[in-house]
Amino acid sequence: MTDRQNTEKLFSVDNLKEVDIELLDPTLRWWMSEQGQVREEEVRGTKERMRVSLGDAHDDVYIVAREQAGGPPAGVMGFGSLDARFSPYRSSASAKAAGLLTAFISPDYRGQGLGRVLITEVFHKARTSGCTEVIWSSNPRYRKTAWRFYTAMAGDQFGTIDNFFFPGSLSPVWRKSL
Ligand SMILES: CC(C)(COP(=O)(O)OP(=O)(O)OC[C@H]1O[C@@H](n2cnc3c(N)ncnc32)[C@H](O)[C@@H]1OP(=O)(O)O)[C@@H](O)C(=O)NCCC(=O)NCCS
Repeated sequence: MTDRQNTEKLFSVDNLKEVDIELLDPTLRWWMSEQGQVREEEVRGTKERMRVSLGDAHDDVYIVAREQAGGPPAGVMGFGSLDARFSPYRSSASAKAAGLLTAFISPDYRGQGLGRVLITEVFHKARTSGCTEVIWSSNPRYRKTAWRFYTAMAGDQFGTIDNFFFPGSLSPVWRKSL
């Protein structure tokens, strides 16, 4: 049995729960920082979006992976409405595209196949909710920590997008057909 098959057996994946949001705080703060400074506004905004997703009127779905069923989350990913700036990247005007949200694995659990497990489940859930593709980009701050992962999961970048994360930013766009 490979390590990845082991990982799929060892980790359980289910929907985000309210209690998970604060448990994910250290992971969010770890990754949402630049030059040692936590981007507090980004952390707050992400947690707020997660909270809203748990209410009745929402489009976003977040899933978490846990080492033990019912235990603390080791990583989180989600999908939701496509940001309008990605509309031109759809495969056709009739494509029902979702955006990828918040892909963060706790530093203790990176590189064990968990990202693959979560993104595969995101694609599966997006497909079963009627989406035909997922489109996303990634902040240049994650160039070394995520861009090759996305290419491994979705193929070469489909294009690039300017000014998405901050004025002057240039980042890849990936598109995964479901
Ligand atoms: C990006 C991230 C979600 C990937 O999750 P992960 O559990 O570490 O990735 P996996 O172990 O499932 O890797 C799956 C595949 O991608 C490859 N991969 C993952 N990260 C990689 C990296 N930084 N460079 C090169 N390849 C990478 C793995 O080698 C593996 O390939 P294989 O199946 O051929 O062996 C995770 O590393 C993470 O949280 N990174 C830091 C935060 C971040 O950058 N988030 C993205 C914000 S947009």
